Amino acid sequence: MKIRTLSGYALAVLATSMSVPSAFADTLTRDNGAAVGDNQNSQTAGPNGPALLQDVQLLQKLQRFDRERIPERVVHARGTGVHGEFTASSNISELTKAKVFTPGTHTPVFVRFSSVVHGNHSPETLRDPRGFATKFYTADGNWDLVGNNFPTFFIRDAIKFPDMVHAFKPDPRTNLDDDSRRFDFFSHVPEATRTLTLLYSNEGTPAGYRFMDGNGVHAYKFVNAKGEVHYVKFHWKSLQGLKNLDPAQAEQTQGKDYAHMTHDLVTAINKGDYPKWDLYIQVLKPEDLAKFAFDPLDATKIWPDVPEQKIGQMVLNKNVDNFFQETEQVAMAPSNVVPGIEPSEDRLLQGRVFSYADTQMYRLGANGMSLPINRPQVAVNNGNQDGALNSGHTTGGVNYEPSRLNPRPADDNARYSQAALSGSTQQAKIQREQNFKQAGDLYRSYSPKEQQDLINSFGGSLADTDTESKHIMLSYLYKADPAYGTGVTKVAKGDLEKVKQLAAKLQD
Ligand code: HEM
Repeated sequence: MKIRTLSGYALAVLATSMSVPSAFADTLTRDNGAAVGDNQNSQTAGPNGPALLQDVQLLQKLQRFDRERIPERVVHARGTGVHGEFTASSNISELTKAKVFTPGTHTPVFVRFSSVVHGNHSPETLRDPRGFATKFYTADGNWDLVGNNFPTFFIRDAIKFPDMVHAFKPDPRTNLDDDSRRFDFFSHVPEATRTLTLLYSNEGTPAGYRFMDGNGVHAYKFVNAKGEVHYVKFHWKSLQGLKNLDPAQAEQTQGKDYAHMTHDLVTAINKGDYPKWDLYIQVLKPEDLAKFAFDPLDATKIWPDVPEQKIGQMVLNKNVDNFFQETEQVAMAPSNVVPGIEPSEDRLLQGRVFSYADTQMYRLGANGMSLPINRPQVAVNNGNQDGALNSGHTTGGVNYEPSRLNPRPADDNARYSQAALSGSTQQAKIQREQNFKQAGDLYRSYSPKEQQDLINSFGGSLADTDTESKHIMLSYLYKADPAYGTGVTKVAKGDLEKVKQLAAKLQD
């Protein structure tokens, strides 16, 4: 007997949860398990008559085909998923009680790399940030570190995210890319200057997923066994080194292979050449937050002078068996945290904590977390129940808490950390914006060739933008670094005097 209709995953679920046969006959069946008699010819009324409604195999096959798609991710739709393992290497128990960081612990992971703006089959050569999202199946439950290759983000408040994405996506009238819509938006968002600099640099076109770093971007909170809090940023460093395509290489690659990043990764893993990343953290004490000239909880900023320490290594060693069941259906969410890791007060992160789980309820349904790729390796034990496509096998009668019949006490060790509060509710910008300094530092860190590639790419995109938005954008770049602003102004055919005047009015 050969296993045929169910994948290994589905078999494992069924075999453990229900009393169904663990192997299936080697014949073709319908979804009810009944054998199919003819899969080549529809049942018709005689040689020339119409097809019959009673051909249940024909009907079911078409119905299932008609429903093969689920909603695509609204962003990061094009992705590549791989399995691997994370091994913790340093004792950081004074920072966090999360078991995943106990030295020597091996934790299975699933990583989904992605591009952001365009749909599922869009070219990977397009200029874009890249997603680097990791699901750790830890002994405390699942922890998702949903990051990007860039260490900073364009905006600092979740309320701007839908507008930003609409500006990045094609024009709703024509479905065509339009830089002038983007800069119409970004000319109102000076805090994007550093991340736009990354985007238009060659870092916006990585040579392959193996050759880029990953970043948690936000500060998160580590909480130790005593309930003490530290702020941390996470950084995956590629052991393959960093490699990007310059504009000429990106154009050339696109002509040959629009899936160059997926090809590179899948091929390397199939050959046994497993890519690795070291995980580093930067740590700040709560009282350190006030000491910076910028707000360290602002996602548009890196922490330049804070030392990094290595806490573990990840190796990716297995390609998916089924793209849809794993890569498409995986649900990575910043709300998937475990005791010892909590969101910081970062306003962008706070919105993400809601948005991912919400979109996944829509994209996958209320029971998406129980799909094989999403469910934790530890038991799930709560009163959440029912909902569409519930494949569980619940036998208990106590679907509430507290209960004396079946006590399921909460774990005191898993309480959220406490934070002091003061003041009134408000809707106001953050203090300490510092919108341009780190963009200038980044520009100056590039080699002369990298600077010129950046200037040409940014200038080329700005060239056709309407004159007011263009000059405001150019003033941001000039404010970051006069040579940067001057170079882009030349390529974009802007008026340098006007750029200087606008830049002079900007605050640092
Ligand atoms: C308030 C800001 C943001 C919002 C509201 C937001 C929202 C979303 C949504 C709705 C998805 C689709 C999720 C799904 O369907 O499974 C998504 C995917 C993703 N986002 Fe964000 N996002 C934000 C900022 C960020 C930031 C700052 C990063 C990087 C640090 C990031 C990285 C990702 C990644 C990597 C994915 C793809 C996850 C996967 O591979 O399944 N996003 N985002």
